[in-house]
Amino acid sequence: MTALYVERYLNYGISLEELQSGRPIIGIAQTGSDLVPCNRHHIELAKRVRDGIRDAGGIAIEFPVHPIQETGKRPTAGLDRNLSYLSLVESLYGYPMDGVVLTIGCDKTTPACLMAAATVNIPAIALSVGPMLNGWFKGERTGSGTIVWKAREMLAAGEIDYKGFIELVASSAPSTGWCNTMGTATTMNSLCEALGMSLPGSAAIPAPYRDRQENAYRTGLQIVEMVQTDRKPSDIMTRAAFLNAIRVNSAIGGSTNAPIHLNAIARHIGVELTLQDWESHGAGVPLIVNLQPAGTYLGEDFYRAGGVPAVMGQLLDAGLLDGTVTGANGKTVTENVGGAATQDADVIRPLADPLKPSAGLTVLSGNLFDNAVMKLSVISPEFRDRYLSNPADPDAFEGNAIVFDGPEDYHARIDDPALGADEHSILIMRGTGPIGYPGGAEVVNMRPPVALIQAGVNALPCLGDGRQSGTSGSPSILNAAPEAAVGGGLSLVRTGDRIRIDLARRSADMLVDEAELARRRAELAGSPDYVPASQTPWQEIHRTITGQFDGGAVIELAVKYQRIAQTQGLPRDSH
Ligand code: FES
Ligand code: MG
Repeated sequence: MTALYVERYLNYGISLEELQSGRPIIGIAQTGSDLVPCNRHHIELAKRVRDGIRDAGGIAIEFPVHPIQETGKRPTAGLDRNLSYLSLVESLYGYPMDGVVLTIGCDKTTPACLMAAATVNIPAIALSVGPMLNGWFKGERTGSGTIVWKAREMLAAGEIDYKGFIELVASSAPSTGWCNTMGTATTMNSLCEALGMSLPGSAAIPAPYRDRQENAYRTGLQIVEMVQTDRKPSDIMTRAAFLNAIRVNSAIGGSTNAPIHLNAIARHIGVELTLQDWESHGAGVPLIVNLQPAGTYLGEDFYRAGGVPAVMGQLLDAGLLDGTVTGANGKTVTENVGGAATQDADVIRPLADPLKPSAGLTVLSGNLFDNAVMKLSVISPEFRDRYLSNPADPDAFEGNAIVFDGPEDYHARIDDPALGADEHSILIMRGTGPIGYPGGAEVVNMRPPVALIQAGVNALPCLGDGRQSGTSGSPSILNAAPEAAVGGGLSLVRTGDRIRIDLARRSADMLVDEAELARRRAELAGSPDYVPASQTPWQEIHRTITGQFDGGAVIELAVKYQRIAQTQGLPRDSH
């Protein structure tokens, strides 16, 4: 370490003797703050991480990560994932760190941290902050996000007033921690554990539990061992590890945001992973975790039933996981989860008695988009009946498009009788992809018009180039690429078009002939008015460098910077 480096670290309170002792310097990448309440408990947990680092012989240096709060950041937290990634890469590479503890939790904080660790490739381990305690209202479990979508319908139907709406929503958030449903946070933290990037059994521990403190301490101990043995993200996040994570995602009923983020992490570590892998490896795996929105329970129940190890143990027994993959603790999947059993067979079902026999995602394509994802498990019998076009072809469905140019257009018109929606409509949302919004908004799950809800139609199929909150169980076709803003097929669809979704052929099309599509394409000139001008420098930069959802919506030029701690040598001196 040069003299200039040294004097300022001494001024903070580390002695010269320590700095020159050769002891590993371990960063604690702090994602929690007042701006990021989901992760705020990491400020407390970091103290126990430090204790672990010290006790194992390391020196801890805590530093902030650009904040990403899912419910707080406008226009969407999705815009900040790549910004946070970018700044964390600079921190991990440009400061003297031998290893890092990534404090993860709220939706985008997990992928941002893992993407950066992948690019830099110094020893890294993630520490989850943990879910909130279960929410309760009048004896019923109320889950994060999921209750918002339900309360939104109740408010629209006049069953509750605004005060009742807020009461219901507040009941779902009783403590520190991330969303207690199987939303994107629980999903991504579970998949981080499945990848091997956090300690086994760590993802599901609720934030306020004593065990969480202990997990923080053990994570501190572990990272020092990882530096000593030089176990890096590239040793852990192999293709086999990603395929394990895809299967776990099906079994837990993970969020449709998972393929975006996992594909992004894979690209930064240099592992080949495509959307097709999600269907090929994940579609046949049963859904066994009975958490909202697909099921009944919440985060505390998941932990009590055994968490991720109880899921992985069953998948391993059934031959659905590669047991030879090594995790952060240097042990294999078989060593880490072999024999882990469920402690409550209603919360984590046996594989032989699942919630749904084949969960996972299916990938659709056609003249609306090159690809989009759909959760097979959301196709209800009611949907089958209403949209079936021909009883002889039970996998093909048809409905009439109602097109919205962004969420503002949707909110302005959804309850207008002139909209003409009925129980055979398909709601389409465009202008909400990674470039159009920008960042990609979670607005594709749209509630039907009030008049339809009052008539008993609680859900209409939705389709769009944006995302959907993992806490929503809506039957949606999402993450369409290429998006309308870059000229994808969705830019041509019009209200009244007949839409055909054929699950057997994995297709989704507007039934509009080629000549008419060509005419519509010719009419489109320049950027559509539902793609507003950038409001900040980063929005504009993001729009010029970010790819589509199927490629993880990463900064495309960043992908070529692989394992820079090994390939780039030390950065040049600062003075
Ligand atoms: Fe942060 Fe859901 S809003 S985890
Ligand atoms: Mg969300």
